[in-house]
Amino acid sequence: MLLVKIITAFPEMFPGVLGHSIIGNSFKKKWDLEIINLRNFGIDERKTIDDTPFGGGPGMIIRPDVVEKALIQNQNSSNINAKLIYMSPSGRQLKQQDLLKYCKFEEIIILCGRFEGVDTRAIEVLGFEEVSIGDYVLNGGEVAAQVLLEGCIRLIPGVLGHPESILEESFSEELLEHPHYTKPQVWIDENKTEHNVPDILLSGHHEKIKEWRLKKSVEKTKKNRPDLIKNKKELS
Ligand code: 6GU
Repeated sequence: MLLVKIITAFPEMFPGVLGHSIIGNSFKKKWDLEIINLRNFGIDERKTIDDTPFGGGPGMIIRPDVVEKALIQNQNSSNINAKLIYMSPSGRQLKQQDLLKYCKFEEIIILCGRFEGVDTRAIEVLGFEEVSIGDYVLNGGEVAAQVLLEGCIRLIPGVLGHPESILEESFSEELLEHPHYTKPQVWIDENKTEHNVPDILLSGHHEKIKEWRLKKSVEKTKKNRPDLIKNKKELS
């Protein structure tokens, strides 16, 4: 059982996508969720959690003492193996390899940034790993946290119906997945144009199909993600 705790100023944004489909069906069976409202740890009657940045500049910064209080009151005292993650566009970029590590923890505590961010002392002192989901800016870490968790929870043993699909999917070998085809074998589109399935896939020749799929994977990776090929000398 993976216990996930989310520290956020927008608790109503959860469970969001995590309440649906395969991830939603495994809720309370393979993983559990606790939402911590950062506002409950505000410093005054007005529940203030942020303030203006020292040195000037736009926006508001979440106070370190507020984050500390939220964390301390929700940290398990039983020396549990917990991973602390801070979602921020300035973090290290999330990779499939990270998800494979995160899904092995007993507990993950995710701090969602909002406004201009969180006082950096809280991140450093409390031991959060700063993680981004890509090179673009979102208004807050809540959607990013759901992206990270969807990718993570599906890797917990027993969550997916077909565990072999984990091994074959994109990034497990640093190549993109080969293209897929299903019925109809001949698809006639609205313009009456016929589109066939490659003959090799109908041949029943498993070795040749495997070779063809690898070739297609390499072609697709060269086209869509040449950066992934650069590190693989044998394919370039
Ligand atoms: Cl984790 N947070 C925000 N606010 N923007 C992002 C992000 C995270 N990752 C990419 N962009």
